[in-house]
Order: sequence, then C-alpha cells, then structure tokens
Amino acid sequence: MHNISKNNEKPEYGWFVKDLIVAFSIIGFIGIIFVSLGIFLTDLLQLFFIFAGIFIIVLFLWPGLGMAVMNIILDWKDDDITDSFDEMKRLEIPIILDIGCGTGRTAMKIVKALENGGHLYGIDIYNKMAISGNDLERVRKNAQLEGVAEKTTFQYGTATEIPFEDESFDIVNVSSVLHEIHDREDQKKAIKEIYRVLKPSGTVYIGEWNSRSAQLIGYMGIFCFVFKPSKYWEYLLKESNLTLMNVEEKGGFVLFTAQK
Ligand SMILES: C[S@@+](CC[C@H](N)C(=O)[O-])C[C@H]1O[C@@H](n2cnc3c(N)ncnc32)[C@H](O)[C@@H]1O
Repeated sequence: MHNISKNNEKPEYGWFVKDLIVAFSIIGFIGIIFVSLGIFLTDLLQLFFIFAGIFIIVLFLWPGLGMAVMNIILDWKDDDITDSFDEMKRLEIPIILDIGCGTGRTAMKIVKALENGGHLYGIDIYNKMAISGNDLERVRKNAQLEGVAEKTTFQYGTATEIPFEDESFDIVNVSSVLHEIHDREDQKKAIKEIYRVLKPSGTVYIGEWNSRSAQLIGYMGIFCFVFKPSKYWEYLLKESNLTLMNVEEKGGFVLFTAQK
C-alpha cells in the first residue's frame, strides 16, 4: 500500500482529531462509572447517576470511540479519492494545488495518480488539533518516503489568502478542510481565492463530510453538527463563479467537482 524506505521507515499520516478522541473517551468512561455506581444506589440517587451516566456516554463516549473507529476504517479501506479525478487524469502535466494538505494523506494519492508528470503544491496552516503530528517537516518526510519528493512542494499558507499568483493551477483539491473554516464569509473568501488561482477551465475538487449521512452520525453521534449537510456546500458553490459539474457521495464523504 505505502512505499517503505530502505530502513523500513513508513510514512505517517496521523489520526484525525486524536487529542479530541482521547479527551472525549476519558470523559465518556466517567459515564460508565456513573451508570455502574447507579446500579448499586437506590431511589433518586440511582436515577440521577444512571441518567447522568447515559447522558455523558451519548455525549462523549459515542463520538470519542466513533471517531477512533472512523480513523481505523479510513486507514484500513484506504479509499483512493483520485478514482473520480477524471479532469486531472485528462491533463498531460497538471500543476496542482492541495489546500489544507496536512500530513499529505490525499496529496500523495494525487501525485501517485499522475502518469505523465506534473507537480503538486501543498499549503496548510498546520492546525495541530486537526491531525496528530501535523507539520511541514512531517509532510515533506512523507513525500520522501513515498518517493514523490521531487514532484511536490509544501509550504505554509491559508485557504483565505492563497500565496500564489492568479491563474497558476490546472487543478485545486480541498479535501476535508472547508468545514474547519467556521465563518461563512471566510468560506466564500476561500472559494473566491480558489477561483482566482485556477487557470481558465481549471477544475476544483472539494471533499466534505455530509452531516446528514448515516455513516457520519454513526461515527460522531450528536457531534455530526460540526459538519454541514451536503446541500450547504452545493449552494455555496452555486453562489460562486464556479460551475458545479458533479456531486458524488461515498460512505458519507461527498466529492464536488466544479470548473472555472
Ligand atoms: C481534516 S485535515 C485534512 C488533511 C488533508 N486534506 C487530508 O485529506 O488528509 C484538515 C486540514 O486543513 C487544515 N486547515 C484548516 N484550516 C485551514 C485554512 N484556513 N487554510 C489551510 N489549511 C487549513 C488543517 O491544518 C488540517 O491539516
């Protein structure tokens, strides 16, 4: 699956929101203690401990363990999002921008899908809460270990102020990033920036979790509200100057393809 270097060092892509998973799981286990205590108590005290325990379990243990399972399934399935990158595969030597590349989980798949050449630039603000081990050194190291270092350039940069000239890229990819920009006006700003850096007829792939999908509710419990329904992103794209070409959902993850 992943390339392994001579000294057997493997790329490390980290777990999404690992610190939150640990915190939620620890708090969630307090819920189990409450329910267990409640069983040995009587009357009002019993009711209080059991209901409080169930409340804590639903609120914290479910999303904590659910997000851990989600990470395990994502690693195990290792779905290749580039299966749907038809426009990119049609180009001879595409110049690509991956916004919010993180440790490079998706970026490396994109580079490996390039048959004739091309180059991927990755930018990120490197939010440590988003992925464990999220930093510039890690993504550069992963590119070396995957054998694609010469086809990639990674640097700091934010989606709302992309540090590249107008019309620089054939393809822009933004995978599981826009939901981390909380303000709607900033989300619009990011989409405007994508439009600016795309070449005429360039393509953008936007991947987001659908808060209405059964898979996401299963993983996150009531915390699925952190994400938005698929329609939200569809409306935002329709409001922009980009033309929405395709919407494809797989396991709760939605891929929007739009063109300049
Ligand atoms: C859930 S991770 C996804 C990482 C990567 N795209 C992937 O598919 O593995 C979200 C990433 O978006 C980054 N991010 C959040 N807000 C950003 C912004 N305004 N500009 C650039 N990157 C951002 C975070 O630092 C994090 O690395």
